[in-house]
Amino acid sequence: MKGGGALELKVVIGDAIQIEVDALIVNLFEGITQPGGATGAVDRALGGAITELIAASEIKGRSGENTLIHTLGRIPAKRVIVAGLGKQSQLSVDRIRRITAEACRYARGKGSRRLATIVHGAGAGGIEPDIAAQAIAEGSILGLYTFRRHITKEPDNGRVDELLIVERDESRLSQLERGCSAGKVIAEAVNFARDMINEPANFMTPGDMAETAMKIAAEYGLQYTVLEREQMREMGMGALLGVAQGSGQAPKFIVLQYRGDDASQRVVGLVGKGITFDSGGISIKPSENMGEMKGDMAGGATVMAVLLALGQLKPKINVTALIPATENLPSGMALKPGDVVRAMNGKTIEIVSTDAEGRLILADALSYAVKLGLSPIVDVATLTGACHVALGDVATGGFTNNEELVKRVVGSAEEAGERLWQMPMYEEYREQNKSDVADIKNTGGRYGGAITAAQFLSEFVGDSPWVHLDIAGTSYASKEKGYVVKGATGATVRTLIGLVLSLASGGG
Ligand code: BES
Ligand code: MN
Ligand code: ZN
Repeated sequence: MKGGGALELKVVIGDAIQIEVDALIVNLFEGITQPGGATGAVDRALGGAITELIAASEIKGRSGENTLIHTLGRIPAKRVIVAGLGKQSQLSVDRIRRITAEACRYARGKGSRRLATIVHGAGAGGIEPDIAAQAIAEGSILGLYTFRRHITKEPDNGRVDELLIVERDESRLSQLERGCSAGKVIAEAVNFARDMINEPANFMTPGDMAETAMKIAAEYGLQYTVLEREQMREMGMGALLGVAQGSGQAPKFIVLQYRGDDASQRVVGLVGKGITFDSGGISIKPSENMGEMKGDMAGGATVMAVLLALGQLKPKINVTALIPATENLPSGMALKPGDVVRAMNGKTIEIVSTDAEGRLILADALSYAVKLGLSPIVDVATLTGACHVALGDVATGGFTNNEELVKRVVGSAEEAGERLWQMPMYEEYREQNKSDVADIKNTGGRYGGAITAAQFLSEFVGDSPWVHLDIAGTSYASKEKGYVVKGATGATVRTLIGLVLSLASGGG
């Protein structure tokens, strides 16, 4: 299930200058002229090579800077990479993730397959060893991610097989191992989502999504069920069925459950948009970049990835994930502008654009979440181009009917180093969704499009506390940066894992 052989991570107690690897990653804060700690030890073993490069201004310690030093047999490691940590006052957990990712990719580019790193941030940086180790695990696994399933030739830039996290102080071992294994589970969950999202639509149909869900359920102790078209009909999911009717692929309504707290009645709901390809339907999209719409199931992949992680982290909480999955295609059978459909909660919807399909399938999924009594409910969707326009590819849009809940989600996003910006839900916007022929229409016009889409969704969540995350801008990266690589980002997977863990441990 994981892309091309997962990276091996290990914590080893020992001296960095004794370790035998292809590349040893050490670090330096900006402005330091005489490195201390493990970097200092390596410097001395190399006869002061690092100090000399600092004096010559070749190493400045800026964040993102990587300098290669060949050791020529002076220590067992073949190469040393000095990674800039930036200014000490600006050190953050997310910066450790980023510099680890960049240093690992740099090492990979130099043909190094076995790497070791000192624990960035846990020395002079003052960050707890478990937190630092987790950031290193996340940064390396996320930053080295590639999607090569459909490329038959070997990569030019090689591959990294192993990363050792080296620490001298044995008393830190269990903390480091705990952080490392949590980071591994979380980052591999993100990469699982990335794999699903990057997969071409002919390899990731609704049926393929359901099969993937079934496999992870079997492997990680989750409960899996799927509703077929017939059951969707019985349940009155007219909006989802409307979107699905133009496609030759059978729609699937995937349900994954994680049960970690038998004593509690509460079940948290995670809902993810699962459009495996969005052509726009009869309101067809321009052909340029239409291929990117293979990633329109990112929300569904995200919530599946969260449950995969929960199955391993085993927090004391219950979570149910709902993923309505279908293609959105034009055909003689397809939904048409002007049609009216009826969602599971009884509300009727006028179809203005068949390209506003995400909110239709979510209308039924959210209605079902309410019927199941899930609370709180968080949905994740590549919902609107308008959100991409508003926030760029930097921040996910957050929308809510519950300020307390959204604060929690924003807090989890901050911890994950994921940008999330709350957007307004002023009632004045509701006007734009009014229809002359049905209870509501499925587009509210050009202006405030991300908000009117969120307002539309709010019609289907009843009184349940709910947050909607629009990842249209953040789910896909056009260039690599830090631990984000080109293509699917897996945005909000880590935020939502953090949210569930915080709900499990902190009430709320
Ligand atoms: N899947 C798209 C939104 C999208 C656009 C995601 C770009 C990622 C990148 C969604 O189904 C859609 O087509 N939305 C329309 C809504 C409009 C018709 C009201 C849009 O944003 O143009
Ligand atoms: Mn669309
Ligand atoms: Zn879509």
